[in-house]
Amino acid sequence: MKNGMFIAFEGPEGSGKSTVSRRLLDDLRRDGYDAMRTIEPGDTELGALIREILLKKDKVHLTTRAELLLFEADRAEHVEEVIKPSLHKKRIVICDRFNTATYAYQGYGLGLDMAAIRDIDDFAVQGVVPDLVIVLDVDPKTGLERAGRKRAKDRMEKRSVDFHRRVRKGYLKMAEKDPRRFRVIDSGQDIERVYEQTKAAVYEHIGYNKRPGKGC
Ligand code: TMP
Repeated sequence: MKNGMFIAFEGPEGSGKSTVSRRLLDDLRRDGYDAMRTIEPGDTELGALIREILLKKDKVHLTTRAELLLFEADRAEHVEEVIKPSLHKKRIVICDRFNTATYAYQGYGLGLDMAAIRDIDDFAVQGVVPDLVIVLDVDPKTGLERAGRKRAKDRMEKRSVDFHRRVRKGYLKMAEKDPRRFRVIDSGQDIERVYEQTKAAVYEHIGYNKRPGKGC
């Protein structure tokens, strides 16, 4: 591939993205692709500190704008230090959440101004955006219950179900507006089916990009 490939996994809480994206990484590697997996927030030294503040230290007061800027600071560092160099090395980069999460959570969820988010996000990503966004869609109540079974709730998971409903709606709206880049997979199904459908979507995308003149 000319410039690698950037695949983001998104979805409401408890959608199973981590499990599915890890399995996908294993399969891609087994099939000979130079693939890597990374996460947001938290995959750089700075990012790990930011993740701690954003999710764990929920006694630290954060205004909604400060929250947005912290996610974007994590992203700016992540893009420059990890994602861009990996794409230049023609790797397949799988990212467990990227900027669609900001539009969904801070935009649709918290109601921050979308135009302002776009300006700040554009500055952070420097034109590096996912080629493919897989949204694992799950009803927020089911997802929050699933997530709650695994570990203690973080700052986001403590927010109301209504907040998480707005997030989900946001994801679905964005996917509807941009069907070329987005694939929505029903993650309420059995995990094997979720995985098979995800893998099919990703391999179809890779196949499309391998066509002559598509940069492979
Ligand atoms: P996760 O790594 O378990 O998915 O947790 C990340 C949390 O941060 C999740 O609740 C979604 C949230 N988030 C935002 O609110 N905005 C963002 O831009 C990103 C990347 C994540």
